Parts: sequence; structure tokens; C-alpha cells
Amino acid sequence: MAHDKCMAVIGAGTMGRGIAQVFAQSGYKVRMFDTMPAALDSAMGTIKKLLEKAVAKEKITADAARQALELITPVRKLAEIGTNPLIVEAATEKPDLKVEVLKETQKHLAADGILATNTSSISITRLAAATDHPDRFIGMHFFNPVPVMKLVEVVRGLQTSDETVRRTVAWATEVGKTPVECNDHPGFVSNRVLMPMINEAIFALQDGVATAEAIDNIMKLGMNHPMGPLALADLIGLDVCLFILEVLHRDLGEDRYRPCPLLRKYVLAGRLGCKSKQGFYKYE
Ligand code: 3HC
Repeated sequence: MAHDKCMAVIGAGTMGRGIAQVFAQSGYKVRMFDTMPAALDSAMGTIKKLLEKAVAKEKITADAARQALELITPVRKLAEIGTNPLIVEAATEKPDLKVEVLKETQKHLAADGILATNTSSISITRLAAATDHPDRFIGMHFFNPVPVMKLVEVVRGLQTSDETVRRTVAWATEVGKTPVECNDHPGFVSNRVLMPMINEAIFALQDGVATAEAIDNIMKLGMNHPMGPLALADLIGLDVCLFILEVLHRDLGEDRYRPCPLLRKYVLAGRLGCKSKQGFYKYE
């Protein structure tokens, strides 16, 4: 059935499902693609639960929740995402995999469609170069938890056109986010500033300066951060933090970005944060 407003999300992980939810709540018909049925089931379950919570808190009506849920179609075959004016890729943070996914995904763009990536640190310019229309490629960096966080960091690659930036800013605004533009550079602005702070907190823990709880309390109460850097690292995923720090360290070439050995150790042990139920803290 034809629908004025439609888009597709590639990947049903933490970020992909959040992006699907915010577009659906703004009336977009969303096709959410993932190769793993379990990821799609879990994503639909999470979205349903969050919408129900919003209804219980009287933030949205039961009708609005039902409509948003109905607008999301989980799909297991890329061919089923149809033709879209906007596709947001939120696949795993592996450069080669992303390139492969983007090459396939671009076949499902409308003639003037825009392909956006939610990458947290892979070069937009590099990913754009792997597509047929690098001028219509852009970074659309959402923040976790996506339904709550206001920011979309709109990252312009070397080849991104002004028109692509303008339309991406308009989409982000339409779904209730605040877009802020920046240029493609390792870590963009957000992770270039955030990750060294998280890394330093891990060094402080490694050096025995204080317990994890004390480090987080100092930053929460003294700096008015909503959560401490170690709890935040657990929320983001320790593997993701390590990957971003490795990008900063390699691409900016400065020692100050070297990942803390304790972070590496946790990742090697499979303590990845909230998603593996253990990181700097334990989770039920
Ligand atoms: N998904 C959806 N909604 C969530 C949520 C989740 N995972 N976690 C909390 N919420 C909602 C709650 O339902 C609640 O909604 P309400 O206001 O409608 O009732 C609201 O958020 C506040 O939640 P709580 O009262 O339970 O808890 P807090 O007030 O402590 O807020 C928080 C939780 C929003 C996560 C807050 O602690 C926070 O803002 N933390 C910092 C998050 C942050 O910095 N994120 C960015 C990470 S970096 C990133 O994503 C980039 C990447 O590239 C690394």
C-alpha cells in the first residue's frame, strides 16, 4: 500500500530499533531489516514495551502507540525494504561489513534518495566513497537511548552535498530531534570529546584511585552528569568504546587516545556492559 512517508532502517540492534521507533512515532512507515530473526523479534518486543510504558505514563495515547507499532514492519530479506527516500544504516560497527551492506542497500534508494549511516566513528568520507552517489551519503548519528536523547549529530563527508545536509536536518527535526552539523573527522565531535573522558575514568579505576561507584558518583554529583562515565560505558558497550578509542588513536595518532588496558581486558573477558549483563557493574 502506498504511504507518503516511508523509510528503512538496516539493523535491529540497540540503535536500529530506537531509530525505527522514533520515525514510526512521527508517522513514517518503517521497514526494519536484520538478517537475524531473533534480533527482529527482540526489537519489536522492546519497541512494544517502550510504547506501552509511554502510554502508562500518559505521554502518548494508546491509539498513537498502536499506530506507531503498526507502522513498523520487520523484514529478513533486503529486497523487502522496497524503495525509500531515506535509509538509515545501523549495522554492526565493522567497516568491511558496513561497506558490503551499503553497496547492497543503495539499490533500495529512490532516485534522489539519501543513504545515512549511524556509525559512531567510521569515516563518512570512506563509506561514501564505496557508494554510487557519495553526494547523497551522510552521517546521521543518534544517541543511546535513541527515543530519549535529543541530539542527532549530522556528519558531513567530504563528498556530501548541501542539499543532502539540508534534507537530513529536516528529517531529524521532523522526528523531534535536534540536529547539529559537523564535519567528518575521527570520532566526529561527540566521541572525540566523550571517549577520552570515559577512557580516563577507566584509567582512574585501573590505578586504584577510587572504586567504580565513587568515580561515577564524583562525576554525577560534581559535574551534574546524568550518569557516571563507567555506567555510561556499560550502556554504550565496552566493545564499542574500545573500537572508537582505537579509531581515535590510530587516525589522530596521539598517545592521549590510547585505550586503557583494563578496557581491553574487560572486552577480552566478554564483559561488554549492559548487553552482556556485566561490565563495570552487574545487571539483572
Ligand atoms: N530506552 C528508552 N527509554 C529509556 C531508556 C531506554 N533504554 N532508559 C530510560 N528511558 C526513559 C525512561 O523511560 C524515562 O522516560 P520518561 O521521562 O518518559 O518517564 C526517561 O528515559 C528517564 O529515565 P529514568 O527516570 O529511568 O532514568 P534517568 O532519569 O536516570 O535517565 C537516561 C536515564 C536517559 C539514560 C539518563 O541517565 C541519561 O541521559 N544518561 C546519559 C545517556 C548518554 O549520555 N547517552 C549518550 C551515549 S553516547 C552514544 O550513544 C553515542 C555512541 O556513538 C557511542
